[in-house]
Amino acid sequence: MKNCMLTLGINYSQMHDSSACLMRDGELVFAVAEERISRAKHDARFPVNAIRACLDFGRVKASQLDEVCFGWQAPGAAFRHDLKCYATRKRPATYLNGLNSTLHFLSMWHQDGGAKNFAQSFGETKARMRFVGHHAAHAISAYAYSGFEEAAVVVMDGRGAWEATSIWHARYGRLEHLLTIPFPDSVGYFYSEFTEYLGFHRNSDEWKVMGLAPYGKPGVNLREFIDPQAGPYKVHARKLVANGAGPFADIVRRLGPNRVPESEIEERHKDVAYAVQDACELAMMSVVKMALEKTKTRNLCLAGGVALNSKANGKILASGLLERMFVQPAASDDGVALGAALAPYLDSGGQLPNKAMRHAYFGPEFEDEAIESALRTYKLKYTRASDVAVAAAELLAKGKILGWFQGRMEFGPRALGSRSILADPRDPEMNAKVNNAVKFREWWRPFAPSMKKEAAAEFVESATDSPFMILTAQVKPKKRSVIPAVTHVDGSARPQTVEKQINPLFWRLIDDFGARTGVPVVLNTSFNLRGEAIVHTPTDAIRTFFSSGMDVLVVGSFVVEK
Ligand SMILES: [Fe+2]
Repeated sequence: MKNCMLTLGINYSQMHDSSACLMRDGELVFAVAEERISRAKHDARFPVNAIRACLDFGRVKASQLDEVCFGWQAPGAAFRHDLKCYATRKRPATYLNGLNSTLHFLSMWHQDGGAKNFAQSFGETKARMRFVGHHAAHAISAYAYSGFEEAAVVVMDGRGAWEATSIWHARYGRLEHLLTIPFPDSVGYFYSEFTEYLGFHRNSDEWKVMGLAPYGKPGVNLREFIDPQAGPYKVHARKLVANGAGPFADIVRRLGPNRVPESEIEERHKDVAYAVQDACELAMMSVVKMALEKTKTRNLCLAGGVALNSKANGKILASGLLERMFVQPAASDDGVALGAALAPYLDSGGQLPNKAMRHAYFGPEFEDEAIESALRTYKLKYTRASDVAVAAAELLAKGKILGWFQGRMEFGPRALGSRSILADPRDPEMNAKVNNAVKFREWWRPFAPSMKKEAAAEFVESATDSPFMILTAQVKPKKRSVIPAVTHVDGSARPQTVEKQINPLFWRLIDDFGARTGVPVVLNTSFNLRGEAIVHTPTDAIRTFFSSGMDVLVVGSFVVEK
């Protein structure tokens, strides 16, 4: 392996969440999802803007790259896999879906192929174009950022070509593949199908089902569609796919008509959400148990879109089955770029670098000069704060809803104190205020708390080391009335624990808010409007601020009040 190896990781499947990242000697330099720059949520196009941002940030030319790694199987591999399936006729039900994956990748290659597209957009490169298996890339993205020497690695998503669930044994910097459950026997597919049945967008709104679930009650039987504990689970996909009788025909026959998008949520919708979430949790737990048994370890790494289910993750962590757990914060396909870019380190018996990921601030940042220029362009009145953390804390304590735009943008779906909307969690009305006036989103979706790590044990039962809001924990009963705006109906919360040495500015804001109020916790939700990507530039922040009911924008060193 040469000195100063430059690798570019790319997620591009034409399905969702295209992204790119740059690694220098195995160290993550920069990562961004295409949607943030293009402003098209879950943008699935070739991530030309994200790649350009990687190269610009790293001051790297395409000609200097050693490897360009796509987190998706090469078309030839998909075709060979399909042929094998066909020849053995092992899984006739999955064969057609496999063929579908080959056709998908062939069309991608010929019409809009990643490698060809790369050369056209960025000029000639001597870099090796490498295709990394989708689940292998997810698995690397979990293990190589865990800091664990040995772990069971579980990947669960909708589909990665033919894969739906996979189990790996990671140790000594390498990954041993133990098991793959092929699509369409997929927990992600099951969840997405019911997300759509409930009137939401698949591959995007699964959060809404998870948030709605605690409002429902047990009793809806989904055994016809999933057996969540059958070695390790079984999804009856034939019952889920649209057939001649119309979309969701079998679900409709069993559970009644599907919900029309934007229509009222009925009790039965809540009960279905409860059952879907419950089945997902059982299936995930069943896969995790199998993985821990097969690997005989007590460390777990999780990735894949299903691993964004923070509720299930929290239950797995609290189950007592394991000692340590790392969930890749960019668990969905954007994070595949991180794993793909490290795959070259496995060549010739090599080892992956492994460093615990403690933050997600890998995106672009903007200096005060650029921010001030944007404020002037819009002819806005602003002041320069001597200490923005103190200024913001004071405003929050007065009940103001803040846009908070600072430092490098987060990689992954959560705002963690760089591109956040912040508010006072003590106000029982604040959830409704932020929902109605700012986010324009559904009443049942909870907001998350960001808390000083030192104070986490005072507020939550578990997940006291949770930098990424990817684990749900129970709020201590005595504290539920103290932070009602971030406590869900079932007493849970999805905390971010903020460390002073990781994000000193955000930590000081929370610390100062705590000194004023006695509660070192703030409500933190992503800086975007409903249906839009999280803001990327100061201009995005200004536009979003004036399109919403936020009171104050704290952007870089500047404070803008309405
Ligand atoms: Fe995936």
